[in-house]
Amino acid sequence: KKIAVIMGGYSSEYEISLKSGEVVCKWLDRDQYDPYRILIRRDKWVMLGDSGREYPVSRHDFSVELEDGTLRFDCVFNAIHGTPGENGLMQAYFELIGMPQTSCGFYQAAVTFNKRDLLGILKSAGVPAARSYHLDRGQELNQQAILDAVGLPCFVKANRAGSSFGVSLVREASGLQAAVENALKEDDEILIEAALQGTEVSVGVIRYQGATRVLPITEIVSENDFFDYQAKYEGKSREITPARIPEDTAEKVRELAARIYDRLRMTGYSRSEFILVDGEPHLLEVNTTPGLTEASILPQQAACAGISLTELFGSAIADALD
Ligand code: DAL
Ligand code: MG
Repeated sequence: KKIAVIMGGYSSEYEISLKSGEVVCKWLDRDQYDPYRILIRRDKWVMLGDSGREYPVSRHDFSVELEDGTLRFDCVFNAIHGTPGENGLMQAYFELIGMPQTSCGFYQAAVTFNKRDLLGILKSAGVPAARSYHLDRGQELNQQAILDAVGLPCFVKANRAGSSFGVSLVREASGLQAAVENALKEDDEILIEAALQGTEVSVGVIRYQGATRVLPITEIVSENDFFDYQAKYEGKSREITPARIPEDTAEKVRELAARIYDRLRMTGYSRSEFILVDGEPHLLEVNTTPGLTEASILPQQAACAGISLTELFGSAIADALD
């Protein structure tokens, strides 16, 4: 089968996505799947040939014209973090043209990529989260309203972004303005949340061999103030799988993560982050295109469960083609 591994994207997570995409290509079972690298950028959609040559990808039917004929793919493997691969745009496009793809549906991608809306929907389904305050570009920054709503310290986040781009921890009111400006570099919408004190954990829920599977939980120990970009990608954290937390707490995290997956009618990969406050998991967010390199959290969790990258990636394709 011919697999189009889409990577790149339009956001600050571009380089990280290229790494995820390369790892997918590297570990796909070559007896079953031929991977093709597809770079999705605002200015071009191209297939990268082995020689480095770029072949335009049709936005009409996702085919590629080669010297010896038209190349059509059997399935898309989504390795794009951020827009347009994690917010529903690519998912909707592939659904419209009838192309099987590994990630969740367009609605699930759109709603999970919008942290504010996701937390609101899940709050009404009984999923705890931090107190929050919403701000949009152009709105007045009312410090007192923010302090009343969430207090300090707080996190100022770009609402629709990943890899901690646009996220700041604010300890004093005087830091709010700069944090808001930093978030506005990534998105027009901002989410300000009370900084919860507790252990951060991350848990993957995936479709594996036709069933929902909750992976082992990872504990995040950041050397920095929080699990920021440097902590995530420049070694300034330890990610411990399985997490060193009591079994009854672990069971609560697993149950909640599985409930979220079901409630959203998810398919494909997901990885949810929680802060444990007195043993109670509070949701931060759900990622539907989690990092897929060997060092990324979801692959570490899969390894801990005895699932190789070849099996992890192969199962996603089999599920998409089912
Ligand atoms: N947004 C990054 C890639 C992650 O969730 O792993
Ligand atoms: Mg994220």
